[in-house]
Amino acid sequence: MRVGVIGVGHVGLVTAAALAELGHSVVAMDLDRVKIELLQTGKSPFYEPGLDDLIARQTGTGRLDFLSVPADAVSDADVVFICVGRPTTATGDASLTAVEAVGREVARYATPGVVVVEKSTVPPGTADRLRLTIARERPGLAFSVVANPEFLREGRAVRDTLQPDRVVVGSDDTRGFEAMRELYRALTERGIPLIETDVRTAELSKLASNAFLATKISFANALARVAELTGADVVRMTEVMGADPRIGSAFLGAGLGFGGYCLPKDTQTLERIAERAGYDFGLIREVGRVNEEAVTAVAAKVEEAVWNLEGKRIAFLGLAFKAGTDDVRCAPALTLARRFAEEGAVVVGHDPMAAAEARARAVFPDLQIAGDPYEAVTGAHCIVICTEWPEYRELDLDRVRGLVAYPIVVDGRNVLDPDRAQLAGLTYLPVGRPARLGEVSGR
Ligand code: UGA
Repeated sequence: MRVGVIGVGHVGLVTAAALAELGHSVVAMDLDRVKIELLQTGKSPFYEPGLDDLIARQTGTGRLDFLSVPADAVSDADVVFICVGRPTTATGDASLTAVEAVGREVARYATPGVVVVEKSTVPPGTADRLRLTIARERPGLAFSVVANPEFLREGRAVRDTLQPDRVVVGSDDTRGFEAMRELYRALTERGIPLIETDVRTAELSKLASNAFLATKISFANALARVAELTGADVVRMTEVMGADPRIGSAFLGAGLGFGGYCLPKDTQTLERIAERAGYDFGLIREVGRVNEEAVTAVAAKVEEAVWNLEGKRIAFLGLAFKAGTDDVRCAPALTLARRFAEEGAVVVGHDPMAAAEARARAVFPDLQIAGDPYEAVTGAHCIVICTEWPEYRELDLDRVRGLVAYPIVVDGRNVLDPDRAQLAGLTYLPVGRPARLGEVSGR
């Protein structure tokens, strides 16, 4: 099929490349010319494992093209994907200005029979609005609007798109379903389920999935607080819970909580949608509160361990919001780093992938970036592990002990083996598990 993709952010770019891999002819378009020029040279504007190879392969086959003119992506397409950003407004509502603008472009350039696909995460009712916009702009055009939410994770996006757990299609007419069945035939032939619903259900399913993942994380973090107060170990507890297939072990990792562009935004959006519809979704509000508390709890551990922060050197291991990405949007590490810097600490950070992004996006100028984790911890009064990069698990802790000013590690992601940390003489302060004291109190 001929596919147009509007917006080459994380979701749009991976979707475009994956659809080309599935055999379709794809034109991906973005108004950001710098991004498009970079892509035309075969480079992705962000780090995503396997994506550069996929783009190179598919541009090589001639099935994937990048352009910055909307008409070129829309006029020949059987299917047009809307993958533009969907930020939130100051009130927490979804901002849909970009989605509406694409609707108007589609109306201008589309060929009759086009299927317009919402890929961006949008509130229920957006498809109805889009339908009305297109019909108003171009009366008489035959078209369908379909919701096809994306469940890819940053860092695993290529795999998630080419081998998804499920494909969800929401449509209110048969033409929409038929087009999407054809588009995803290569996946369904491999046994990947395609779940068909009405449009509003599909739209809301995406927000519900992200909000539920966030709820699991906050549940684990609330349990971590209880574990700390009662002397239990949250890691072992969630292992016990996760062994029950009705619960599942995924997303029960206690620590600094959820960050990134999606989970914080989507929980807030779902709460606002419910509120506007007349339902008080207090459970989701509490998920957000526990998530903020997760960061405060780690900050309190650091403050308790080092006493006054003024003039203390705090080493942050990990700046990305999670491992496997260079994304620092809503990264708990930067929230903490900013807070400590404001209290007069010298903040030095390391990240194998996200250092440049952190430097660009951190709103305080004093963030120092170290070239490797050992450089970061040299002279540190406290080490705070903020991202679960595998290389931190493998750190030579005896070497670390020899480099620091104070042997204190606050492990915000429960990455280190407590026994190994204690054996190296470190005071080890994890989340929701017993602390290990490696240093002598001085008395
Ligand atoms: C999330 C969803 O997982 C995807 O399914 C969805 O498609 C995507 O949002 C989206 O809406 O675009 P992503 O933002 O890439 O994906 O990140 P996650 O892997 O969900 O992690 C989110 C945050 O939760 C990270 O900060 C991570 O460190 C944290 N987390 C995750 C925990 O604190 N504990 C856990 O056990 C798991």
